[in-house]
Formats: sequence, structure tokens, C-alpha cells
Amino acid sequence: MHRFIRLSVLLMGLFAVASSYAADAPLPAPMTEDDLGPAIEQPIEFPHNRHAGLRNPDDPTNSDPLKGGMEINCMYCHTFARRSAVAGIPPLQKCIGCHQSIDTVRDKPRIKKLFEYWDAKKPVPWKKVHDLPDFVRFNHERHIKRFIFQQNRPVQEACGYCHGDVKTMTVARRSKLLSMGWCVTCHEKEHLVTAEGGIPVGNQAYWYSMHKPPVDPSGIVKAKGPNDCSVCHK
Ligand code: HEC
Ligand code: HEC
Ligand code: HEC
Ligand code: HEC
Ligand code: HEC
Repeated sequence: MHRFIRLSVLLMGLFAVASSYAADAPLPAPMTEDDLGPAIEQPIEFPHNRHAGLRNPDDPTNSDPLKGGMEINCMYCHTFARRSAVAGIPPLQKCIGCHQSIDTVRDKPRIKKLFEYWDAKKPVPWKKVHDLPDFVRFNHERHIKRFIFQQNRPVQEACGYCHGDVKTMTVARRSKLLSMGWCVTCHEKEHLVTAEGGIPVGNQAYWYSMHKPPVDPSGIVKAKGPNDCSVCHK
């Protein structure tokens, strides 16, 4: 019940937005993938490239910071992505666990700052880079289970559909639009469903048994993502 009340408020919002666009000329410039808002300033610039970036094959000791990363798995730090709505930011403890035994950068300003937070027993006040409005429902778990655990896509590729090439970033930056149209466009595509003998299996089997996605002659099942308003809106 609640859901439907909120949805009708949303629908009214949609008309209000449409009419205010009509009234207020000139139209706002459409957002593009190059226009993703201001860069976020973090308390410490965390270099994803150095931690998650690819190793440099010519530098097996990984000694030149300019030349390669450590290929740390995204989910080693963002541990909740596979089992909850949020991916989570790693606690300071995780950083210190490594950095207390890394002498090469111990005196660098950013690492000094990291230890200042640690000594003061304060978490690093990271700022959000991606932040959907509160009326949107988003869930990492379903996407990660589907793309990484059922379709066996590489982790960085799957995260990259929505976050871009984070492993090369010197500071995390939004690189996809995350607009409604962008989400819906991907949900409208046919995605491989884990199936045996043409019958969907796994934890989404029930959902697909209701939606009856087409089965091709070789037994491959594909289905669109959900596109009912209430799936993405509370
Ligand atoms: C060593 C730990 C670590 C690893 C490995 C790591 N991250 Fe992060 N990540 C962080 C920290 C700390 C932040 C918060 C600082 C920031 O936003 O720049 C963050 C922020 C992010 C954000 C922005 C969050 C927001 O506020 O919207 C995204 C997206 C992200 N990481 C994706 C990835 C992906 C994809 C990978 C693998 C390619 C990865 N991370 C690997 C530690 C890590
Ligand atoms: C698996 C071990 C490991 C973990 C976990 C880890 N780091 Fe690092 N970090 C390193 C190594 C190794 C380097 C590069 C050392 C070098 O360049 O010689 C580094 C480099 C850095 C640098 C760049 C320092 C500079 O100025 O050159 C920053 C900043 C940093 N880490 C922050 C963090 C933060 C914040 C976290 C927790 C979210 C974290 N690290 C977690 C191993 C780790
Ligand atoms: C289908 C798109 C999609 C995929 C795939 C995806 N993310 Fe996200 N991610 C988002 C959206 C959207 C948000 C913003 C959520 C919000 O504001 O409520 C987000 C937020 C985050 C955040 C900020 C903290 C949080 O949980 O809100 C981190 C960190 C993050 N993602 C990391 C990852 C990592 C690591 C992967 C791969 C294991 C990944 N994401 C895969 C869409 C995605
Ligand atoms: C790369 C393609 C892709 C993108 C981009 C994407 N999705 Fe999805 N999404 C899917 C697929 C496929 C499923 C179905 C997963 C399943 O059922 O196994 C899904 C499922 C969902 C679900 C259902 C989860 C549940 O627990 O019922 C929600 C909600 C959702 N997506 C919201 C979003 C939102 C909001 C965005 C944009 C910020 C987004 N998605 C972007 C592919 C995508
Ligand atoms: C796949 C997920 C998804 C589906 C399905 C979806 N939406 Fe959205 N919707 C979003 C996201 C994400 C945003 C936030 C976009 C942003 O922040 O720019 C949004 C924003 C909106 C807004 C606010 C628009 C604005 O400009 O502020 C309205 C109204 C809305 N949706 C209505 C609907 C209605 C009605 C439906 C069904 C026909 C629907 N949505 C289906 C993901 C979805």
C-alpha cells in the first residue's frame, strides 16, 4: 500500500518536472557522460590505480608507483557488494593493517594523515561520489550475483559497467550517468540467465518462472532486467 502512495507522488513529480521544463525556457543543457557534476574533494585522495590497477609485467617487484598497481580485488575492500544493497567503504583498520608494515610510503603526507585519523581513533570522513536520490531503490547484491557469480564476468569488468575503469583512477570519479534512462536501457537488454535444460535455476528461478523468458533451441535462457516502476522506486 505504502509503495503505491509513494509511487503516485513520484508520478505527480514526473508531470511537475515535465511542465516546469516547458515553462522555463531556455531548457537546461542535457547531462552527458562528460558532464557528471563537480569532482568530489576527499579528505585523503585514495589512489585506486595503485591498489587495484594492473601489475606492470616489466616491474615484478612492483617498485615503481608510476608504473603499476597491485591488482587487489575490488571486493576485498568493498566487501558487502556481493551480499547487500551497499558495497561499503573499507574501515580504516583495513588500510592500517597493510600500511603499518609498508615503509616506502610511511612518510608521505597522505599516509601520515591516514595514521593521524588512526591515532585519533576517528574514521576517515570519505565523501560520497555516487549518490542516487533517496526515492530510488538500488541493490548491488543482485547485480553482482548475476554478473560475477552466475555469468562469471571478471570483477573489474562487472563493476565497470556502472563505475567505469576505477582501477586506473587516481581518485574515484563518477563516470556513468546513473540516470533513470541509463538504468532502464540496460534493463531492456537481454541478459543471460543461469539455466539447466532451459529451466532457470538459482535464487532468481522463482522470479523467472513467473516472467517466462524465451528459451532458444540450444537451451540458452535470456531475460531483461526488471522495468516496473516499483522495482526501482520505493
Ligand atoms: C584497498 C582498498 C580498495 C580497493 C582494492 C578498491 N577500493 Fe574502491 N574505494 C576505496 C576507498 C577507501 C574509497 C573511498 C574514497 C573515494 O571515494 O575515493 C573507495 C571508493 C570507491 C568508489 C566510489 C564510492 C562512492 O562514494 O560512490 C567506487 C565506485 C569504488 N571505490 C569502486 C572500486 C572498484 C570497481 C574497485 C576494483 C577495480 C575498487 N573500488 C577497489 C578502497 C578500495
Ligand atoms: C594490501 C595492502 C594495502 C592495503 C589494504 C591498502 N594499501 Fe595503500 N598502499 C599499499 C602499497 C603497497 C602502496 C604503495 C607503496 C609504494 O608506492 O611503494 C600503497 C599506497 C597508498 C597511497 C599512496 C601513498 C603515496 O603518497 O605514494 C595511499 C594514499 C594509500 N595507499 C592509502 C590507502 C588507504 C586509504 C587504504 C585503505 C582504504 C589503503 N591504502 C589500503 C598497500 C595497501
Ligand atoms: C548495476 C550498476 C552497478 C554495478 C554493477 C556496481 N555498482 Fe557500485 N554503485 C552503483 C550505484 C547506482 C551506486 C550509488 C548507490 C546509491 O547512491 O544508493 C553505487 C555505489 C557504490 C559505492 C559507494 C558505497 C555504496 O555502496 O553506496 C561503492 C564503494 C561501489 N558502488 C562499489 C562497487 C563495486 C566494487 C562493484 C563491483 C563489485 C560495484 N560497485 C558494482 C551501481 C553499480
Ligand atoms: C549492466 C546492466 C545493468 C545496469 C546498468 C543496471 N542494472 Fe539493474 N539489473 C540488471 C539485471 C540483469 C537485473 C536482474 C538481476 C537478476 O534478477 O538476477 C537487475 C536487477 C535490478 C533490480 C532488482 C533487484 C531486486 O532485488 O529485486 C533493481 C532494483 C535494479 N536492477 C535497479 C537498477 C538501478 C536503479 C540502476 C541504475 C542506477 C540499474 N539497476 C542499472 C542489469 C543492470
Ligand atoms: C531501472 C530502474 C528504474 C525504473 C524501472 C524506473 N525508474 Fe524512475 N528513476 C530511476 C533513477 C535511477 C532515477 C534518478 C535519476 C537521477 O537521479 O538523475 C529515477 C527518477 C525518477 C523520477 C524523478 C525525475 C526527476 O527528474 O527528478 C521520477 C518521477 C521517476 N523516476 C518515475 C518513474 C516511473 C513513473 C517509472 C515507471 C514507468 C520509473 N520511474 C521506472 C530509476 C528507475
